[in-house]
Amino acid sequence: MISTTYNMDCMAYMANCQDNAFDIAIVDPPYGINAPNMNMGSWGKYKSTASRLKRSRFDKGGGHYANSAFVTMNTDWDLNPPSRAYFEELFRVSKNQIIFGGNYFGLPPTRCFVCWDKLQALENFSQVEYAWTSFDYPSKIVHIGSTGGRNDVERIHPTQKPVKLYLWLMQKFCKPGDSILDTHLGSGSSRIAAYQFGFDFVGTEIDKEYYESQEKRFQAFKADFDFDQKLFVAQELQCNQLNLNEQWEKQQECRS
Ligand SMILES: C[S@@+](CC[C@H](N)C(=O)[O-])C[C@H]1O[C@@H](n2cnc3c(N)ncnc32)[C@H](O)[C@@H]1O
Repeated sequence: MISTTYNMDCMAYMANCQDNAFDIAIVDPPYGINAPNMNMGSWGKYKSTASRLKRSRFDKGGGHYANSAFVTMNTDWDLNPPSRAYFEELFRVSKNQIIFGGNYFGLPPTRCFVCWDKLQALENFSQVEYAWTSFDYPSKIVHIGSTGGRNDVERIHPTQKPVKLYLWLMQKFCKPGDSILDTHLGSGSSRIAAYQFGFDFVGTEIDKEYYESQEKRFQAFKADFDFDQKLFVAQELQCNQLNLNEQWEKQQECRS
């Protein structure tokens, strides 16, 4: 199993990839909304995600600087969405795509959006995010809490998505033996999920601090990971809906 990551611009990486090199690209590019610095609430004293995270690092004291990403982290990567050329490259190097922030990028019409319900109690935070997919499946909703607040998951990135969200996506959309590309790794949650299912995975991250943090996070996860947990993870993620293959077959039957 491959789990390779590069600290580089994804455009430079994809330039050297063959057409359809990956079965699926699961990506979370900048939306162009300045997420790390945005004031997501209406309260006067509200602080941005980036400043809260940096503050909490300082409050913990110098002994907790093992992960330096929040002290020196770059917070201006979300000022612009990716270029048209990025999407052209992504569609060239991958057979299918799941693109977070797909509501921002003027992508072609699709039947299958994934709506991620972040289980946010308050409306002054975005309660859902949308992922555009290239799949001809019914649209889906997934209810998984984001990693903030009192959640026990350590955050190493201001827009870190839960590993569970990626596990759910992979369970729904990937087939055994698939290879996955994530062009915008961030905290590396996608990489950790791919590793648990045994998918080949390649990721790129342009920022050095984030890159090193995700590497450290991945190595720590890998050292603790017991492959018997795989079964548990799969069971935990079982949902009541028919799985997509069954839905697909039923629809084909109805159409014929
Ligand atoms: C929305 S965040 C990804 C968050 C990630 N999904 C997670 O769960 O942590 C986007 C990331 O893309 C990185 N980035 C921006 N432009 C890039 C590029 N051209 N190539 C590679 N990475 C890039 C940023 O540094 C940032 O960490």
